[in-house]
Amino acid sequence: MTDLNKPSSRGDWALYRRLLVYVLPYSWAFVLSVGGFFIYSLGSVLLADLTQFLLDSLGQASEFELGLVSTAANWIWPPGDKSPLDYARIAVPVAAVVISLVRALGFFVGNYYMNVVARSVVHNLRVQLFEVMMNAPRRYYDDNAGGQLLSKITFNVEQVSGAASDALKALLREGLTVIALLTYMFYLNWRLTLVFFAVAPAIGLVVVIVGRHFRRYSRRIQDSMGSVTQVSGESLGAFEVLRIFAASGQQIARFKEASRFNRNQSLKLAFVQAVSTPVIQTLLALALGALFWFALDPDLMAGFTAGSLVAFITAAAQMGKPIRTLSGVQSIVQRGLAAAEDIFAQIDTPPEPDRGTTPLQRARGELEIERLSFRYPGSADFALENVSLHLAPGETVALVGRSGSGKSTLVQLLLRFYNPDHGEIRLDDLIVDEYQLTDYRRQFAVVSQSISLFSDTIRNNIALGETHDATYEQVLAAARQAHAIEFIEQLPNGLDTVLGDGGAGLSGGQKQRLAIARALLKDAPVLILDEATSALDTESEAYIQEALTGFCANRTTLVIAHRLSTIENADRVIVLDGGRIVASGPHQQLLAESTLYARLHKQDFEGS
Ligand SMILES: Nc1ncnc2c1ncn2[C@@H]1O[C@H](COP(=O)(O)OP(=O)(O)O)[C@@H](O)[C@H]1O
Ligand SMILES: [Mg+2]
Repeated sequence: MTDLNKPSSRGDWALYRRLLVYVLPYSWAFVLSVGGFFIYSLGSVLLADLTQFLLDSLGQASEFELGLVSTAANWIWPPGDKSPLDYARIAVPVAAVVISLVRALGFFVGNYYMNVVARSVVHNLRVQLFEVMMNAPRRYYDDNAGGQLLSKITFNVEQVSGAASDALKALLREGLTVIALLTYMFYLNWRLTLVFFAVAPAIGLVVVIVGRHFRRYSRRIQDSMGSVTQVSGESLGAFEVLRIFAASGQQIARFKEASRFNRNQSLKLAFVQAVSTPVIQTLLALALGALFWFALDPDLMAGFTAGSLVAFITAAAQMGKPIRTLSGVQSIVQRGLAAAEDIFAQIDTPPEPDRGTTPLQRARGELEIERLSFRYPGSADFALENVSLHLAPGETVALVGRSGSGKSTLVQLLLRFYNPDHGEIRLDDLIVDEYQLTDYRRQFAVVSQSISLFSDTIRNNIALGETHDATYEQVLAAARQAHAIEFIEQLPNGLDTVLGDGGAGLSGGQKQRLAIARALLKDAPVLILDEATSALDTESEAYIQEALTGFCANRTTLVIAHRLSTIENADRVIVLDGGRIVASGPHQQLLAESTLYARLHKQDFEGS
């Protein structure tokens, strides 16, 4: 067995305790539920006891032995001079109905309120998990595939819910019933009851062994569900490419593999589950056999009426179903625990570190990058090496370089998504780490290479986050400046048009214009455009460029672009190659001095 499969009981207790913390706010519902199930299990005992009442009333009056129900009935409604049979004819049916009704009520209260607990726990876990993901550092997203994360929120959380509702309900209901029945049997004839306890260790052993297997398979099922979500998510989002490159078959094969693994693990779990129940039943049957043998022993049975023997056997037989259910519930519990383990591991992801304490309203926009070096975690090469760059407030600097030269990486570091390995970045003379992170990021409006749009109205997509309160006119103005209004006006509901998933139905250029409008509305002192206009045709780009020129005038701007027009308008051009700055200066000067720049420039010129 590997380490992973070895259940540690100490770890389990920590897990239970942690889950309990989520249950605490709903203790009232939990108590109600336990009360309900208690009444339910008591009802089961009383129904067994009723058989004694029935049978004893059929016997000779001299043999009349009082059971629990008959005692209660006699107390509530004394028989007077009625014969035991006449009395029982009324009392037994009434008692049966009353006990059943009360038991039914207990069942309802127990089940419903346990769901209140379980659903609330799941809701809180899910929201907490999502919050953690929303605040997780960049690294977390690098390390986890999107589909896997999605599966944690949907599948894993649901597994905990199964354990919390179904399993806990069954545990309480059947557990209490078993305890109540055993207590009753003990009360009737303790020596006979001990026969039952003889098989208890064997049953316990089966339960423990089975539990281990369940946990292991459950972990694998979870992970494979993550893969299933992952493959389906990325395939459904890329159907066009898949068709064109005839790669659908390839994805189907991957999906099949993920799903097959999931099936196999589920089957292994089902196998263990299907084996364990009959094994436990056989053990119980052995106990029952022994019970009958002892029950007919005259010594043991001295002073035991036929009625109480039947009641005893009824109670013993009634234990079969709860014990079967209890052994089956294990799989759900183990699945829930495996899922809870994983969810807690996610929840323990530390949020994006923020050591900054200095608040910042609005920066002047002076950026000083000094001897900056950075290597992606796990990567051997520096993505940026010894980069020094000064951006004066209001200056527009263009950053050019071949793809993979580190341009976007520099943006990531400026936005504090990663920490530099060497060197530092200062904004308005203060090292960026010293600013409160949210305040710091408020200083930046960024249009990046990948554009994120949400299934919301265009207006809300432009007025995202802190600009949410922008007036209709302000949003309109931003859309106009980004030359987005031209296509927005064509849409049936204009700015109130609801976008599809990720902006489905819009062209790449249209999405970029919305992203630019969003950045313009934010009106931050630093503007970063990372190939923000790459999807636009030369003419639209020229329009936007013109609009941006006015906008950039009073803010620090870093433009990453291939296109000539963008670069020529910049105050300065920086050429990045292999993570190092190889040339910088005004456009004309660079053309003469830097062969790389001249070549990049020439390629672009020919390309467009
Ligand atoms: N998340 C990442 N993890 C590891 N390496 C990365 C990551 N992102 C980019 N890189 C690597 O860093 C280098 C610079 O990438 P990038 O800054 O995106 O280039 P550019 O934007 O200039 O095209 C490339 O070699 C790229 O492979
Ligand atoms: Mg890039």
